[in-house]
Amino acid sequence: MQRRTFLSTVAISSAGLALTPLLAQAQTQAAPAQASSPGELPMNSGDHKRYRPSHRVGLGGAIGLGDSRREMSEREALGLLHEAWDQGIRYYDTSPWYGLGLSERRHAMLLSSREHDAYVASSKTGRLLKPEPGYSHDNWKGVNHFAYEYDYSASATRRSIEDSLQRMGVPNLDMVFIHDLSPDNEDISDNWKEYFDVAVKGAMPELVKMREEGLIKGWGMGVNTLPPARGAIEQSDPDIILLATQYSLLKHDDALNNLFPLAEQRDVSFVLGAPLNSGYLAGNEYYNYSKDVPDEIRQKREQYRKLAGEHNVDLRTAALQFCNAPAVVASVLHGASRPEHVRENVASMSARVPGEFWNAAKQQGLIEQNAPTPS
Ligand SMILES: NC(=O)c1ccc[n+]([C@@H]2O[C@H](COP(=O)([O-])OP(=O)(O)OC[C@H]3O[C@@H](n4cnc5c(N)ncnc54)[C@H](OP(=O)(O)O)[C@@H]3O)[C@@H](O)[C@H]2O)c1
Repeated sequence: MQRRTFLSTVAISSAGLALTPLLAQAQTQAAPAQASSPGELPMNSGDHKRYRPSHRVGLGGAIGLGDSRREMSEREALGLLHEAWDQGIRYYDTSPWYGLGLSERRHAMLLSSREHDAYVASSKTGRLLKPEPGYSHDNWKGVNHFAYEYDYSASATRRSIEDSLQRMGVPNLDMVFIHDLSPDNEDISDNWKEYFDVAVKGAMPELVKMREEGLIKGWGMGVNTLPPARGAIEQSDPDIILLATQYSLLKHDDALNNLFPLAEQRDVSFVLGAPLNSGYLAGNEYYNYSKDVPDEIRQKREQYRKLAGEHNVDLRTAALQFCNAPAVVASVLHGASRPEHVRENVASMSARVPGEFWNAAKQQGLIEQNAPTPS
C-alpha cells in the first residue's frame, strides 16, 4: 500500500472507530421536535453569475467544535451539531486548522450520513496536517496529534481538499477558502506577500480548475484582513470571500467602503465570519479571539448596550441582523459552543429590531451612514 493511501485509510478507519457508538446513538435517538425548517431561515434568491450558497445562516466550526476555549466531549459536539440541524441550519463551515482536524472529524458525525444536496459545506486549504504523536498547539485545548505546515501550492491544495473530504466523511465541498493567508497571521505575517505570490500561481488557478471540473462550486480567501481579499479579486477569479472580524456592528467602515464595491463589480459575494466579534457582542470578554480589548471598542459596546436598552433590543440579535443586511453578503456564520447558542442565534434571525434603533445608531455615529440596515 502506498504511504498516501495508507495514511488516508488509517485516518478514516480510526475516525470511524471513535465515532461508531456516537453515530449509532445519533441514529437511534428520538428526533427532537423540529424547531425550525431550513426554509424559515433567511435564504438567498436572485440570479448571480457566481456561486452563492442558498442558505444565509451558517454554523462556524472554529471556537466550539475546534475546542478553542474548552474541551468539549464528543457527545456534546454531536448534540451541538444536531441542534444546528434541527434548527434548520444547512450550511457548515470548518477547516483543517480548527482543532487540527478535530472540527472536520466532528462534522463527519453529522454530515457523513446526509445526502449531500441537503446541505452546504465549506472548508479551507493552506495548512497540511502531519501526524505527530503528542503534538498540541496553544490555539486548541488538549492534544491534537497533528502538526501543520503551510503550503499554498497547487498540489497541496488538491491534497488538502482530499484530506478534508476524508476527515469530514463527505464526497464534495461546495466552497473552499484559502485560509489565513493574511498579514494578521503571526506564523507568516513578515512574508505573507511571498506566500500570496505562491497562491496566485498555485492554489488560486488550481481552485479555478477544480471549479471547472465540477469538484467545487466556488472558492475564495478565508481571511481576517482586507488586503488578501482585494488581492485575490484583482489577481485571480474568486467567487466568494470568507471575511471575518471586518464587518460587524463594532467595525465595518473599511470593508463597507473599500472592499464591498470592488466585490460587487465582479459579482463576488461574502460569507461573514465572527459576526459577534468572537462573542464580544454576545457579552463575553473575547474581542476577535483576544482578551486584549481596545478601549474604543469597550466604549462602543457600552454605547450599544445603552442604546439597545433604550429600544428594548437584544444586542446580539442586532449584531447578527446587521451582518445579514448587505446584498453583497451571501451568508453569515455564527459560532457556538453550546446548543442554546444555536437556538438563540436562529431565533434572532426572525426577531424584530425597530427601525428607530438603527436610526439612532446612525445618528450617534455607531453605524456608518451608508451601511445597509435590516428593513
Ligand atoms: N479566517 C477565517 O477564515 C475565519 C476567521 C474567523 C472565523 N471564521 C469562520 O466564522 C465562524 C464564526 O466565527 P466566530 O466563532 O468567531 O463567530 P461569533 O459568532 O462572532 O462568535 C462565536 C462565539 O460567540 C459566543 N456566542 C455565540 N452565540 C451566543 C449566544 N447566543 N449567547 C452567548 N454567547 C454566544 C460563543 O462564545 P463562547 O464559546 O466563548 O461561549 C461563541 O463561541 C468560525 O467558526 C469560522 O467558521 C473564519
